[in-house]
Amino acid sequence: MGKLDGRVAVITGAGRGIGAAVAETFAREGASVVVNDLGAPMEGGATDAGPAQEVAERINAAGGKAVASTADVTSFEASEGLIQTAIDEFGKLDILMNVAGIIRDGMIFKMEESQWDSVIAVHLKGTFNTTRHASAWWRDNRGGQYRLINFVSGSGLYGSPTQPNYAAAKMGIVGLTYSCANSLGGYGVTANCIAPVAFTRMTASLEGKPTVMNYSPDNPRISAENVVPPVLYLAMEQSDWINGRIIESGNGSIGLFSNPVMTRQVTKDGVWDLDEAINEMETSFRSAIQQPNPFARPPKG
Ligand SMILES: NC(=O)c1ccc[n+]([C@@H]2O[C@H](COP(=O)([O-])OP(=O)(O)OC[C@H]3O[C@@H](n4cnc5c(N)ncnc54)[C@H](O)[C@@H]3O)[C@@H](O)[C@H]2O)c1
Repeated sequence: MGKLDGRVAVITGAGRGIGAAVAETFAREGASVVVNDLGAPMEGGATDAGPAQEVAERINAAGGKAVASTADVTSFEASEGLIQTAIDEFGKLDILMNVAGIIRDGMIFKMEESQWDSVIAVHLKGTFNTTRHASAWWRDNRGGQYRLINFVSGSGLYGSPTQPNYAAAKMGIVGLTYSCANSLGGYGVTANCIAPVAFTRMTASLEGKPTVMNYSPDNPRISAENVVPPVLYLAMEQSDWINGRIIESGNGSIGLFSNPVMTRQVTKDGVWDLDEAINEMETSFRSAIQQPNPFARPPKG
């Protein structure tokens, strides 16, 4: 008995890395999977049907059910076709997982407009595109146990200095997920985020670098496969109680982030006087913040 018997999943970016590991596990656990991947280079652009095809073939050869799709998630129309593929091939859609991604790193003061636009297009617009069409189907077919799982990143949550485009796109996905968690619950949908950590081509440049993690192809703890267990749980029917959350997964850790909460508030009937507001911020807020500048660095020479 598989943990996802009878379920149908669309997984974007499933031709490589974490998406591929998720697709193969889902199929082993009984799900029918649409393996979507444009086959893009790490910085986006060109198309290669190979990666999606190979993963789908591996799944089918192992006795699972999969079809390949090379739809580009940056296209609204192609994303509609991707969702329709699940309906046409497998009769329904239970799980949408938005994993597709590229990176085009650079400091904010040197970033080209094209670097910004392409990263926002794949991550933020791509997640909107597929979610828009999946949610319309879920709304028309309420009564199921539907799951939206969006991939975000520590880059946004911790503010990676060299990835302003990627950090912004991923935190945009957090806002999109919160909105969907709020709007789609009545149609049987939960919406959550996964912030993964894994050695893939996206993090291959970190191999051997002095980070707190041992990024290496020989370290099973940081493998793409080790990201999958909490992702699988979020896709199962029994996870219907968890909604609007960010879960970190990878390097042996399964972590729950807190959602933003207001930690101190001062209110006043009527309009704030300038000095009065300044004084409140200097006193009430200063004492409420344990770490006034979480991004403190020495000044540049
Ligand atoms: N690896 C990590 O440690 C890490 C950390 C934080 C977040 N992430 C996120 O996890 C996800 C998976 O990352 P990965 O490390 O497996 O990367 P990866 O590069 O191995 O896989 C990403 C896949 O997305 C596909 N893709 C790119 N553009 C596409 C498009 N327009 N349409 C369809 N498919 C497209 C690529 O062809 C590629 O196969 C990404 O969203 C990434 O941002 C990864």
